[in-house]
Amino acid sequence: MAQDIAELRAAHRRDYDPYATSSIQEHLDELAERRREEPVSWSQRGNGCWVLTRYDDISSVLRRNNRGFVSFPNDPDGLNVQGARDALIPIEIDGERHRQFRRVLDPLFSPARVAPLEPLLREAATRLIDEFVEDGRCEFVEAFAMPFPGATFLAIMGWPAGDLHRLNRWVATMHHGVPGAGEEESNAARAQAGSQMRDYVVERIAERRADPRDDVTTHVLDAEIEGRRLTDDELFDLFLLMMLAGLDTVQSVLAQSFVLFGRQPELWSAMFADPQTFEPAIEELLRWTAPAIPTRTVTDDVVEVGGLELPRGERVHAPLAAANRDPEYYPDPDAVVFDRPAKPHLAFGMGTHRCLGVHLARLELRVAFDELHRRIPAFALAPGAAPAEHLGLSWGVEDVRIEFPPGSREPRS
Ligand code: HEM
Repeated sequence: MAQDIAELRAAHRRDYDPYATSSIQEHLDELAERRREEPVSWSQRGNGCWVLTRYDDISSVLRRNNRGFVSFPNDPDGLNVQGARDALIPIEIDGERHRQFRRVLDPLFSPARVAPLEPLLREAATRLIDEFVEDGRCEFVEAFAMPFPGATFLAIMGWPAGDLHRLNRWVATMHHGVPGAGEEESNAARAQAGSQMRDYVVERIAERRADPRDDVTTHVLDAEIEGRRLTDDELFDLFLLMMLAGLDTVQSVLAQSFVLFGRQPELWSAMFADPQTFEPAIEELLRWTAPAIPTRTVTDDVVEVGGLELPRGERVHAPLAAANRDPEYYPDPDAVVFDRPAKPHLAFGMGTHRCLGVHLARLELRVAFDELHRRIPAFALAPGAAPAEHLGLSWGVEDVRIEFPPGSREPRS
């Protein structure tokens, strides 16, 4: 018999702010303290949720999706702020409908399907670096970390490369509102960005209906879920989610990594010292940066989480970065160590909702770091640079000003 929920909450109460204005490291320090003192705690803030901190508790909850938990609403505050009318497809749907979506989507993001994109990604990276390499300085997020995943997304969807700038602006507003503004102003800006994006996506859908190609847009238009084609509303929700999921995350890993390399330049060199180090180094950076925070809701009468019995309706918050810094599995967890013994990190989640874009993301990171290192083998944070970090739906960093010996543009064939 589950304990009375009010008593359970009170006994484990420790408020938590998923949108705190602290730095990512300060936030991780707080999560580490909670892990030691109250590894599963209840927070009134965030519309009431349980906060997990241990690798085992987080992986166990994510693994039990469809078996005691569902993923709606999948937002730290339990609100649907992205502008979708209903549960976001596919991240907030579960069961058979979700399985059918993944059956359609998984082959479109398989290793075999994304590998041929490599030359295109190298070309996109080269063009972006060309724009600033002669200056010997840039604001790395705006110049590279933000536009690069956007360019990749447009390529895989088959949408015009020239739409990159407005796409990125909308995504940034949806995720972070208006920096420095209040909640009301931010939500109004989100609603406006959502409606502009909707008009844009509906145009792309109409284009592909008239002119089918071998791209993700066309394949999804042709797919049948539950015996029928998707409506424009469903297509919009799905494409919107892919944009939000694919852009901000890759950007965050690149930007957080560049702040790290700016502070510890020996790591930037060490990553390329030996070809064997490169891919494990990317995994270590994914472990260390882990920007996503899935949330699950209990659907069984009672489920066990970290030794507690939680009843139906309770929301559980799973900051993946906390799992990835659990000293139980990662000694000296805040240090970036490229040759750590391999313990699979949770940056891409786990279970049925594990990241659809995992192969694409790894390819993007490989190409991005490789091309950046080839053109900018050494750099430092600009004097006085103060990268600004944010938490929320996806943790990240802005204003990463760097300086480096100027290089030259690549000759165009
Ligand atoms: C480093 C980059 C990335 C990271 C760290 C990341 C992380 C994640 C995580 C943790 C989840 C699971 C969330 C949950 O369980 O609630 C997820 C799901 C998802 N990701 Fe990624 N992601 C990345 C890149 C991408 C890219 C490039 C795409 C491409 C479109 C993408 C598309 C998706 C989609 C569609 C889902 C939902 C899957 C589902 O609900 O079945 N992600 N991602």
